[in-house]
Amino acid sequence: MKIAVYPGSFDPCTNGHVDIIARSCRIVDKLIVAVLSNYKKTPAFTAQERVEFLKRVTHNYKNVEIMTFSGLLADFAREQGASVIIKGLRAVSDFEYEFQMALTNRKLNPDVETIFMTTSTDNMYLSSSVVKEIAAYGGSLEQMVPEEIQANIYDKLRR
Ligand code: PNS
Repeated sequence: MKIAVYPGSFDPCTNGHVDIIARSCRIVDKLIVAVLSNYKKTPAFTAQERVEFLKRVTHNYKNVEIMTFSGLLADFAREQGASVIIKGLRAVSDFEYEFQMALTNRKLNPDVETIFMTTSTDNMYLSSSVVKEIAAYGGSLEQMVPEEIQANIYDKLRR
């Protein structure tokens, strides 16, 4: 059974994340979306909220499981029996950091391979930070965030 982990802070999840989840779960047997709970920066949404949003927007995908993790991703992948880490790449600017992380994770866990999935062109500009900024000023989140979670994002962030 091919198990993959798709890690992130998902603060909050965007259409870009959902697109990567939808495409990844077609090529593995089980996809674990792993929400980092001991986030470096203080997250806008609690780990529980971020998990709940992801569960809501992925309920149609039968082989997707949403979990939280803390500590090293390489250890989490080992504990879950995952042989693949999936990362989304939006632009060349993502590459340097992701390349370093992929090499580090392989050093820490030689049984795991990082696979990069290029974002869909519609989502190239999208990030959780952009979404939070727009929501704070009451801008439209149309085509940025799944409809089911838009109201929750405004409720928490609108100034
Ligand atoms: O959505 P993000 O914030 O880009 O996700 C970053 C994440 C969660 C993938 C990354 O910070 C991570 O893997 N953190 C766990 C700690 C770890 O394993 N770091 C790499 C070795 S130093």
